[in-house]
Amino acid sequence: MSNRSLYIVWGVTGGLGEGVSLALANAGHDVIGYARDVNKVNSSILDAEHIEIRSMVISESFYRQECAYLEGRGLTIAGIVDCVGSTQTPSDATLTQRFKDIMTPNLFHPYASTLIFAPVMAENASIVLVSSIRALTGTDNQNIEYAFAKAAVENLARSLVHHLKATKVRCNVVRPTPILGTQMSRAWSPQIIEELESKALYGTLLRVDDIVPVVVFLLSPSSLAINGTVIDTSGSFGL
Ligand SMILES: NC(=O)c1ccc[n+]([C@@H]2O[C@H](COP(=O)([O-])OP(=O)(O)OC[C@H]3O[C@@H](n4cnc5c(N)ncnc54)[C@H](OP(=O)(O)O)[C@@H]3O)[C@@H](O)[C@H]2O)c1
Repeated sequence: MSNRSLYIVWGVTGGLGEGVSLALANAGHDVIGYARDVNKVNSSILDAEHIEIRSMVISESFYRQECAYLEGRGLTIAGIVDCVGSTQTPSDATLTQRFKDIMTPNLFHPYASTLIFAPVMAENASIVLVSSIRALTGTDNQNIEYAFAKAAVENLARSLVHHLKATKVRCNVVRPTPILGTQMSRAWSPQIIEELESKALYGTLLRVDDIVPVVVFLLSPSSLAINGTVIDTSGSFGL
């Protein structure tokens, strides 16, 4: 790996994680992409130059070990993008289990990994967390835990800005609506897609490639003036 800017992307088995990793690598940066199951990572990523894939688990001890390992390799992190997120929990799960299943990837992961990795990031480095329109609207479906986890992610970013003051690491959030072409969207029936499209300003849902440039911009020095902010990437969904 060269000494060009290094970016960490969490959750690269599809969707935004895959899209952001490829965009950064194509722009000539180095990327370390994390996946809980490296066998699920698409060949577009595996075959890409400048992307190294490492396996992850969501645990404080894992983050500490991994951080020490990267530091040991002399790698300086210019940016982190957290694309881990899930609405998956068994339908018969107890409230305790639902809370754990949803909070762990959507909230514990960005909270703990960011606090552990930020101190070893380069000065003026940038963190981008991913929220959801559900943080703003709440939800009328089963996934109320997802909605309030994402609302907490938005607040987490604002608090992190204070915590990271000494390191001058920025932290911002993007807030997408339902995105076509993601793992989540593969579960949507044509009827659900039609319903969602009726709420989209131009009648079509956004795709991964519509969101990726916003994330790349937030990682870049061009966005130095943007900190502790949620960028709504919903394309006026629901207005
Ligand atoms: N897709 C949408 O419509 C939409 C809308 C608004 C916001 N978002 C948010 O956007 C972000 C990126 O999502 P995406 O749509 O690009 O979805 P995606 O393709 O499903 O990516 C989510 C990633 O999170 C990983 N992940 C989930 N649970 C995990 C766990 N317990 N441990 C480790 N990794 C875990 C997944 O790994 P596996 O492949 O192994 O499951 C996957 O790599 C997420 O925060 C999501 O909540 C998505």
